[in-house]
Amino acid sequence: MKNPEKQEVLNALSYVIEPDLKSDIVALDLVSDLQISDQKISFTLKVNNPALHNKKRITEACEHQLKRFLGDLQVSINIVPLGSTKERTAEQRKVMPGVRQIIAVASGKGGVGKSTLTANLAAGFAQKGFKVGLIDADIYGPSIPMMFDVLDQKPAIKEIDGKQMMVPVENYGVKIMSIGFFADINKAVIWRGPMASKALKQMFSDVFWGDLDMVFIDLPPGTGDIHLTLLQSSPITGAIVVSTPQAVALADARKGINMFEHPNLKIPIIGLVENMSWFTPEELPDNRYYLFGKDGVVHLSKELKIKMLGQIPLMTSVRESADCGRPAVLQEQTSISAVYKELIQNVEESLALSPV
Ligand SMILES: Nc1ncnc2c1ncn2[C@@H]1O[C@H](COP(=O)(O)OP(=O)(O)OP(=O)(O)O)[C@@H](O)[C@H]1O
Ligand SMILES: [Mg+2]
Repeated sequence: MKNPEKQEVLNALSYVIEPDLKSDIVALDLVSDLQISDQKISFTLKVNNPALHNKKRITEACEHQLKRFLGDLQVSINIVPLGSTKERTAEQRKVMPGVRQIIAVASGKGGVGKSTLTANLAAGFAQKGFKVGLIDADIYGPSIPMMFDVLDQKPAIKEIDGKQMMVPVENYGVKIMSIGFFADINKAVIWRGPMASKALKQMFSDVFWGDLDMVFIDLPPGTGDIHLTLLQSSPITGAIVVSTPQAVALADARKGINMFEHPNLKIPIIGLVENMSWFTPEELPDNRYYLFGKDGVVHLSKELKIKMLGQIPLMTSVRESADCGRPAVLQEQTSISAVYKELIQNVEESLALSPV
């Protein structure tokens, strides 16, 4: 029997609706790696909610439509969460060869909580047993050394395989490199584009990172030329975009998303995080005050069909933890550490990290 054409398979699959996104899976571009041979069809399908019952439902829907249009065929579907990343290829591993995933944390607008989020993601993943690195690439105001209580430290220099390499500073199980280690924190440094890219490149290639599951990069705010240059020279596997629910921040978050989707970059967006979603006073933990509007990022995620990774409240303890150099996720069983842990779980589902 003749194998069906690719177009025939896609036509049949276009009758399958993604339950959360309420549109067909082909129009949403959720089908990839389609292979047809020996009456066998296999493909990868992205879904918004990878819970078991959801996977089962959508698998059955695909099988049903393929049977209806093309008859009995063997079907094999690899279901992955929307926004999931791929492990780095051998080609990408020329720099930082032992690093499996490199995740950029970005926002369009400044001051929305990028560094706080990056610090909590890195410390939280490390606490879970992952091997984690963190690059603070914020050329305008590196804040990671303070958030990790390593302001007074500097990377050591070590000779490895005949090459002088920097050894990252370490705290809470996270290996840290910051652009702040190269400049006097009290003096404003004006990094111009090429200089900033060079410094960033050095943080990839001249640092002894070793074997790591993931490295997070705290990017400077903005979406200008300097960002494109920084990103083009970075082997990034995925991006997380953070915003407050406020309209001006959302407008800039859109610019950030467009930047990653730029044809020269095409960096997959793992998902969106809403920070400062509501204010909750420590003494009234059930109260929520929507200072910057409600659910702005949730609406954006629905509109752009990008995964929503979580909402983080504005709480004094988040700021205090950042200022005292111990990320809030490390607190024992507080409401805020639970919020970060759930967020980390959602990010983990999107990272293609097969066990080693
Ligand atoms: N959820 C939160 N609750 C309370 N304070 C927060 C929260 N998130 C961030 N902050 C505080 O808000 C301020 C800005 O956060 P942060 O430095 O992480 O933002 P940023 O986006 O990295 O800023 P920049 O653009 O300057 O790099 C900091 O003082 C931080 O402690
Ligand atoms: Mg910052």
